[in-house]
Amino acid sequence: MTATPVISATGLFTPPESISNAELVASFNAWVEAENAAHAEAIARGDMQPLLPSSVEFIEKASGIRARHVMSKAAILDPAIMAPRIPERPDEAVAILAEIALEAAGEALARAGRTGRDVDAVICACSNLQRPYPAIAIEVQHALGATGFAFDMNVACSSATFGIQTAADMIRAGHARCVLVVNPEICSGHLNWRDRDSHFIFGDVATAILLEAAAVAPPAHWEIVGSRLLTRFSNAIRNNFGFLNRAHPETRDAPDKLFRQEGRRVFRDVVPMVSDLILRHLAETGISPASLRRLWLHQANANMNRLIAERVLGHAASEAESPTVLDTYANTSSAGSIIAFHLHSADLAAGDLGLLCSFGAGYSAGSVILRRAL
Ligand code: COA
Repeated sequence: MTATPVISATGLFTPPESISNAELVASFNAWVEAENAAHAEAIARGDMQPLLPSSVEFIEKASGIRARHVMSKAAILDPAIMAPRIPERPDEAVAILAEIALEAAGEALARAGRTGRDVDAVICACSNLQRPYPAIAIEVQHALGATGFAFDMNVACSSATFGIQTAADMIRAGHARCVLVVNPEICSGHLNWRDRDSHFIFGDVATAILLEAAAVAPPAHWEIVGSRLLTRFSNAIRNNFGFLNRAHPETRDAPDKLFRQEGRRVFRDVVPMVSDLILRHLAETGISPASLRRLWLHQANANMNRLIAERVLGHAASEAESPTVLDTYANTSSAGSIIAFHLHSADLAAGDLGLLCSFGAGYSAGSVILRRAL
């Protein structure tokens, strides 16, 4: 008989340090002032355009972000550095990405009444992997004392929903019974903190999702009613960092080796793509949008979420219908919708339906319909 996959529990690790928009903008503008002073003659000659300052008001209006948690606050805010400085560790020490994944995993396992030994597959699904190999997921598997197998996967901001469908399929196929999906996102490492258009977008966090066969899951779980994934190639969000860059020292640190996007185009392309995916998924599953208690949307931009929720529900969504965590977490890539689910799902009753949705670079999008079992 085919096993039915469910979500038994989730976990969340939030870095203790946080940067407010005021702190971020003060650092950015100090750097802008210093750069413009250093190039005053070229600017006066008209050979160079002065850099423009950032503003708290713009950031809040354009994105809904008020603060972001980070792993390395002082270095990010230092105008002479403006990047995280996380010391390299010896091979024998746990890697930072595995460490924060384990923090989130610990909470998910405890909530489900499980230990690492119950896990028989680990997927690390995130946007930025710390190294090519050995897989971060195998390091997490080892640290947990889990059996079975583990691997890393990357579908940018959609990694978590793609990880959920992959884990669910493995449970259905009988290849695993208890799959841990972790989403450690140190987004501050790929963000260009000197790019006025995007320096405010990302934060750091880790989430974990424990999926099990319904037959062995705790009674308080979430049924996976169905999932749909979608990808469509686009250069509108792109990062050219990769192992072949080392052959070209002259361009190795160029801005295209960090996150960059055409924000307006992303907005235009992704809102219809995602709302159509959700509406099609609901129609194919025989569920009316009105019967959804909650949307746990990817957390990239409050205006985008407002439009997507409105297209799906047919009316302006309340905070209870489409909760946001962007204000304090910013965009945490694949972890965003999982944070929203983790923090805003306890009040749903048995039988209530909700929908998890991710979207981002690729383009990629994922939709997962959940029903509370108890
Ligand atoms: N501070 C002050 N002003 C700024 C600024 C900043 N940090 N950054 C840009 N501006 C200015 C621009 O110069 C421009 O000024 P102008 O009209 O005088 O030319 C104006 O603000 C509008 O810039 P624009 O880039 O068009 O802003 P926007 O309203 O499109 O918002 C995003 C930018 C990135 C917040 C928005 O496009 C977005 O969120 N898009 C979706 C991206 C996304 O979600 N990506 C991740 C997917 S996972």
